Amino acid sequence: MSGVITKAIVPAAGLGTRLLPATKSQPKEMLPVGRKPVIQYVIEELADAGLGQILIVTGRRKRAIEDHLDSDPQLVAALRQAGNESLLTDMRFLEERARFFFTRQSEPKGLGHAIAMGADFVNGENCVVALGDSIIWADPPSAPLQAMMKAHIELDAAAMVVVETVPEADTFRYGIVSIAGSTPPPGEPVRMTDIIEKPPAGTAPSTLAVAARYVFSPLIFDALARTPADHRGEVQLTDAIRQLIHMGKPVYAWALPPDQRRYDIGNLESYFYAFIDFVLADERYGYLVRKYIKAKAYDL
Ligand code: G1P
Repeated sequence: MSGVITKAIVPAAGLGTRLLPATKSQPKEMLPVGRKPVIQYVIEELADAGLGQILIVTGRRKRAIEDHLDSDPQLVAALRQAGNESLLTDMRFLEERARFFFTRQSEPKGLGHAIAMGADFVNGENCVVALGDSIIWADPPSAPLQAMMKAHIELDAAAMVVVETVPEADTFRYGIVSIAGSTPPPGEPVRMTDIIEKPPAGTAPSTLAVAARYVFSPLIFDALARTPADHRGEVQLTDAIRQLIHMGKPVYAWALPPDQRRYDIGNLESYFYAFIDFVLADERYGYLVRKYIKAKAYDL
């Protein structure tokens, strides 16, 4: 297998129920976080990591994602004519860095089912999976993926999964992993011994949560094909990873270093925090907003 990973799957079919009413008629992946919609952060991260072919698994009411990623020569020409360099820079994510492919998951059959729809696209190669509702904060944002892809190839891994420590009370929201030893060294792959999807409160084996970025060998598609649907009729990616572990395949967790983090745009509270942090760090507007918040903080 070639040592270069060029393909990524971005599942973006989730209904966004936890973000209603903001997501009634627009995809959660199109919610703005500062000046950009969530999906644009994800695409820029993938393109920066050298992933030139990106399959986006959309669903009903998700067409705005395709529109956002479609090139718009008229708009670019108008901005050029107006000499609006900063907006032209913001639109650069569309320029030939990645090719986009789209497919639709028509029924809510789970994350694993959505990824399985990419089997032909991936065509026996290694691939990346990046959840379309999570933004990575790192400098550059592609740093974790780049390191993971390198480690994945060096170790000839079956899967490499980003994890982060979450509060005990939040473990029921995520895939939770067990590793050999207690604390994973940040930024280094460590062998995973088990993984479980959204354990009921009080039963989580650890506080290490799957954080929305994965690198897979093609073995994941065999595992997905053998993974039965859960009690809700959904095929879970986590259950397929678990199969790989139980088959003795090399599956690794990769913990985000302390200066990197994942923002989950899956519920309103975490969306608000993401918005605030990204606006505060914005090179054009951060200064103004910081001033505003400092003044406002007196009244809080
Ligand atoms: C999915 C995965 C879960 C993971 C989470 C990360 O859950 O199934 O294992 O921890 O993404 O955001 P979802 O958020 O789609 O319910």
